[in-house]
Amino acid sequence: MRYLVTGATGAIGSAVVEQILGSRASEPDDVPEADPRLGADDVLRVFVRNADRFRDRFPDAPVEVAEGNALTPIDVRSAVADVDVVVHCVNFPIARYHQNVEAARLLVTAVGEDRPHLVFPGNTWVFGSPDPPITPTTPFDPPSRLARLKAETDAVLTNAPFPTTVVHLPDFYGPYVTNDLVRPLFARPVAGNSVVFPAPVDVPHEFVYVADAARALLAVAGEETAENRRYTVGTEPTTVRKFVRRAYDAAGTDGRVWGLPPWVVRVAALFSDRVRAVADILHVFATDVTMSGAAIREDVGFEPRVGYREGVRRTVAWYDSEGV
Ligand SMILES: NC(=O)c1ccc[n+]([C@@H]2O[C@H](COP(=O)([O-])OP(=O)(O)OC[C@H]3O[C@@H](n4cnc5c(N)ncnc54)[C@H](OP(=O)(O)O)[C@@H]3O)[C@@H](O)[C@H]2O)c1
Repeated sequence: MRYLVTGATGAIGSAVVEQILGSRASEPDDVPEADPRLGADDVLRVFVRNADRFRDRFPDAPVEVAEGNALTPIDVRSAVADVDVVVHCVNFPIARYHQNVEAARLLVTAVGEDRPHLVFPGNTWVFGSPDPPITPTTPFDPPSRLARLKAETDAVLTNAPFPTTVVHLPDFYGPYVTNDLVRPLFARPVAGNSVVFPAPVDVPHEFVYVADAARALLAVAGEETAENRRYTVGTEPTTVRKFVRRAYDAAGTDGRVWGLPPWVVRVAALFSDRVRAVADILHVFATDVTMSGAAIREDVGFEPRVGYREGVRRTVAWYDSEGV
């Protein structure tokens, strides 16, 4: 199998690389959740903007590194040449989120005759306020501009003339996951500080340990398919408050967990572009967007392996050691 992982310096992209290699460079403990899959005839290529950044994390890994920009046609064309599977993990910052649609269009055009199987990490933003649990047949109802752009990216990829599998994943957490929403849930407990979250904290919510998210993408990548497929991954419903309490327990510290009511965020958004952009995705914390993992379990045997107790313990250990 010849794999291409785009966005391989990012949270999920680097976890996918780690799983393909079967190495656990970011794992503090020797827990066997990686399924090594890079055999003698297999090839792993990554598409990154900065090869040095990739090599900082995977110094000696047997990986072809294609350096380039996901918005530059010639770079994308040479990256996708001669691969069987593309795991598309490029992501643009919220302020430039529309570029995800542009990058998806470019990828579809660049693929040409080879018809690889494309695997794409979907999220929960696109479903609006459905009756839980969300399943692969739950219709999209994106309630915000960012959610509509995510749905549009999904549509570009699923309308492509090659098979695409979308795997909708809960919010990632784990080593190297440092986005603006998740970082405070670990960094502040590690520092013994209280957490103020920009959304309600007592609504059912799911998180997925990033190594499990990567395993879900690879579980579908290995399957031959001529058609598009869609899966949802469920873990275990919790709440932001209970999740953060686990982080305090693991860190051996204590603090309070406050959730801001939506009107406070709306007022703050009037004065800050950054808050306005983040507010566009907070609906997933105000409503129950827990998902069913039944179809992906039945079709490809995927089950998450790292529960919250172990996953939070490892993540706290990583934040503590890295001083993130
Ligand atoms: N985060 C979550 O909880 C979550 C949950 C469900 C689904 N997802 C989906 O998973 C995907 C990846 O998210 P993530 O959180 O892993 O993203 P991320 O950590 O922000 O990583 C984004 C990656 O894209 C690369 N990139 C950005 N602009 C690029 C460009 N112009 N050319 C080439 N590469 C570029 C980045 O490279 P640099 O390192 O050079 O910046 C980085 O490797 C997204 O589709 C997201 O919606 C995320």
